[in-house]
Amino acid sequence: MVQEISGEMNMAKPILFYTSSAKHIAERMRIKKGRFVMKRFTDGEIYVRVLENVRRKKVWVLASTFSPAENILELFFLLDALKRGGARVNLIMPYFGYARQDRVVENGECLSSEVVCSLLRGFRLNKVLVIEMHSPRLKKFLKYENIVPFELFYPAACRADVVAAPDKGAVEVAKKISRACSVSFAGMEKIRPVKEKARVTMKADNVKGKRIMIIDDMISTGGTIIEAGKMLKKRGVKEVSVVATHGLFTGSAVKKLEKSPIKRIYVTNSIPQKATSRKIKVIDISGFVEGLIKKS
Ligand code: R5P
Repeated sequence: MVQEISGEMNMAKPILFYTSSAKHIAERMRIKKGRFVMKRFTDGEIYVRVLENVRRKKVWVLASTFSPAENILELFFLLDALKRGGARVNLIMPYFGYARQDRVVENGECLSSEVVCSLLRGFRLNKVLVIEMHSPRLKKFLKYENIVPFELFYPAACRADVVAAPDKGAVEVAKKISRACSVSFAGMEKIRPVKEKARVTMKADNVKGKRIMIIDDMISTGGTIIEAGKMLKKRGVKEVSVVATHGLFTGSAVKKLEKSPIKRIYVTNSIPQKATSRKIKVIDISGFVEGLIKKS
């Protein structure tokens, strides 16, 4: 009897629910949307109600946790409504916010990523997929599958002569891309003398006259890639471009990037892209996310 039920569930078409953080992606996906209400009361509190029978059904939730923190609450309330309705919930997160606060550096600090993970754990989710989680340290706090959207990067990255990583964290992904594109790889070293400031150096790599594609998981203040770009220009590269999964572009990042030696910046719309610059090219991630759901 139980097997019959799970057989039905496997054949059933996925149903998608989403929060406002991922509406721009969900709307482009050809996946049946679940009916639900998500609204604000007059005092600003969030109200969520699922309008269909989800009992024993496998449903997908698409949501990110970038700022404002309301995005996290929307996600938790939607998960709660679905779990109360008896759904088996899979979560897919285009961007996992708070992942950069992944360790305690100074006494008295909150371990914010652990807080978000432990709350998610409480929902006993069936499966969690995260598009390029910033830090593998979160594996200690939550069971999830890290998905790097390599196929979206190849068209831009494979036009370069050299694929480069601006810091240790980007090496694995950048090396994989360089191998897939059959181009050489160059590694850089990054230190942060103070929070949100970067200093980038490079050892003996020969990059003179080459077209470089820097690979990173995210662009926030832009400091990392601007510093990397300046350093590479001093070494005589022909041009420097960047591919990054998440484009946060905080503060005056876009203005600074406009004036920088970076030629092109490719980011996905894992986070809604409002940044306007002729340098920035947005790669739509919705087809990729749809594919992940369909093959799961
Ligand atoms: C660093 O560890 C990350 O991979 C990115 O390089 C970093 O978060 C980018 O931040 P920003 O643009 O502020 O330098």
